[in-house]
Amino acid sequence: MQPRDILAALAGGEAISGSALAEGAGVTRAAVWKQIEVLRSRGVPIEARGAAGYRLPWPLQMLDAAAIEASLPAGTREQLGCLEVHWELDSTSTELQRRIAQAPDMSVVLAETQSAGRGRRGRAWLSPPGLNLYVSCLKRFDAGFAALSGLSLALGVIVLRALERVGVAGAGLKWPNDLLSDEGKLGGILVELNGEYQGPCAAVIGIGLNLRLTEALREQAGQPSDDLGRLAGGIAPDRNALAAALIDELTQGLRAFEREGFAGCVDDYRRHDVLRGKRLQLTGALGDIEGIGAGVDARGALLLETTQGLRRIDSADVSVRRA
Ligand code: BTN
Repeated sequence: MQPRDILAALAGGEAISGSALAEGAGVTRAAVWKQIEVLRSRGVPIEARGAAGYRLPWPLQMLDAAAIEASLPAGTREQLGCLEVHWELDSTSTELQRRIAQAPDMSVVLAETQSAGRGRRGRAWLSPPGLNLYVSCLKRFDAGFAALSGLSLALGVIVLRALERVGVAGAGLKWPNDLLSDEGKLGGILVELNGEYQGPCAAVIGIGLNLRLTEALREQAGQPSDDLGRLAGGIAPDRNALAAALIDELTQGLRAFEREGFAGCVDDYRRHDVLRGKRLQLTGALGDIEGIGAGVDARGALLLETTQGLRRIDSADVSVRRA
């Protein structure tokens, strides 16, 4: 019996006794308890309800590649290189990096949990099993890095479109592509480029979305964090439906980006830009800079109104000043 089997057995949200779980899997109750503890140590809030047994505080859907594929339009299915769901990977993006030489364009890999999830700027990305979504997509481009400015911002717009499709409205974008609510970060996007400046290149696009965070996970995140369940009024979107919406929007959105670049979605970005008009503090290679957010330009640079005039910023860590 593996942690995956326990999570799948509890996914419906009803309480199940340790002996029923043990009987179903043909193992001892001690073996069940051991796997429950493994899941708890990874952040899954399994409750013990006395004689009634173990239960999750809410139902969840185990990721299912066949269900995701079945809900994609035929045109999108045809463009997918592969669609894989794993129980655990070190990181879905690291997995695609390992296979970058041979994996076809638009290969998509999901995992229920990651043992070494990666965020931007070398940070770790918390990846408890079953609660959130961890997806990576390999996209090949003929035109080279030079044509990819604004890609990471365009991806923020693509993810917001997927969220809206599953009924989650009200998320904003913090440059370059953090997904935010008023309470904190809902998700993040990591874009890693491989290849040549002017020749063929490939982007490994990693997307992490918080669907359910417990109090303990919010604390571990080390930054203000929020989840889509709260934003959607207490009910998190169906994980397979969200994965399918994301894959469909990625397929369409990345094709549009190849044709039109960031200019094709800059208006959508501006509608969701949470930094515009705010007092910002930037840290990065240029040192510390302060100013007022003045939107983004057509190639995705952050515009900052400073005492020395308007500056275009290509890379920096941005925070909003409170006072
Ligand atoms: C960020 O720091 O905001 C970016 C977070 C990106 C996390 C996702 S989860 C799926 C993919 N695999 C990883 O290891 N990272 C990305």
